Amino acid sequence: MEQIIIKTKERSEKIEFPDELGFGNIFTDHIFEMNYTKDKGWHEPTIKPLEDISMHPGTMFIHYGQAIFEGLKAYKTKDAEIVLFRPDEHFKRLNRSARRICIPEVDVDFMINALKELVNIERDWIPTGEGESLYVRPFVYGSDPFLGVNPASSYKLIILLSPVGAYYPEGFKPIKILVQDDYVRAVRKGLGECKTPANYAASLLAGEKAMEQGYTQVLWLDGVELKNIEEVGTMNIFINMKNEIVTPKLNGSILPGVTRKTVIQLLKEWDMNIVERDISIDEVVEKYDSGDLLGVFGSGTAAVISSVGWLTFKNKKMVINDGKAGELALKLFKEITSIQYGLKEDTHGWIYKVEKNEVEVS
Ligand code: COI
Repeated sequence: MEQIIIKTKERSEKIEFPDELGFGNIFTDHIFEMNYTKDKGWHEPTIKPLEDISMHPGTMFIHYGQAIFEGLKAYKTKDAEIVLFRPDEHFKRLNRSARRICIPEVDVDFMINALKELVNIERDWIPTGEGESLYVRPFVYGSDPFLGVNPASSYKLIILLSPVGAYYPEGFKPIKILVQDDYVRAVRKGLGECKTPANYAASLLAGEKAMEQGYTQVLWLDGVELKNIEEVGTMNIFINMKNEIVTPKLNGSILPGVTRKTVIQLLKEWDMNIVERDISIDEVVEKYDSGDLLGVFGSGTAAVISSVGWLTFKNKKMVINDGKAGELALKLFKEITSIQYGLKEDTHGWIYKVEKNEVEVS
């Protein structure tokens, strides 16, 4: 792969973060960009100042949605080192999504290095408040103008960076979830396991309606029988019960979360009975009624580990652990964030250091 072209600009103003960073409101000064054509493959990898994208109104992804994305994070550790959490898993998942909707794959090692270069240049943009990090959003879209329905022949990949705090307005406090049975997010063999904008578009109306009723998010049921629980859309879900912790198994319509994988590995190492299987909403209600439901929590890059304090299905309003964060969710949150912020040694190979480099401008 070619050498990355670097075109940086002087930062005119000092970076100042607001008190509440929230999620996705602020962007850094530079992006990474590269283009794909059939004859050249992926080419011209470039780090350059952030600017608007200008595109032809016939650009294919606008019409037919051929686009994919990822979400990962960079952290400043307690020793002021910069690290990425599991970037290999994220770029491998980008490739899995790419294969599903006919987008050309990228070289994972090249992308990790490109991201390290970009984050190195933007290191001053990494916030250091509690729970804060630099959210990394790689995305790829079909970029040539054509109105026929087929895969594009050229693509653009961009990495955009955004300093973030907590994803949910509640911060890291327990959230309220409405189990959704009026709409579905995805069906097996469809796009559910692919990180593509269509899945998020499918979730908007239900999300708005849930919010009007005071809920933070919805929990999706399977798209055929509306029976088994699937995921929250911004997180995977875990149900902590008396004898087992269950997370829905990856059946094709659930996003294979990197934090989900991390949680499963940690729970196994802690000798806890974590089971990936189908679990119906009726079973969750039964366990709640019998007092065997100890906790519910979600896992995701943006949300980290988020306790569910209230779960409503039809007229059944379940208050979980008195609306307080569960012990297991707190333990997982602490373990994962301690590794991410360098408070605990990474014994798993999850952390990728970003070395400090003076950048040569070309
Ligand atoms: C993430 O957790 O990174 C996500 O992609 C969820 C959401 C912000 C789209």
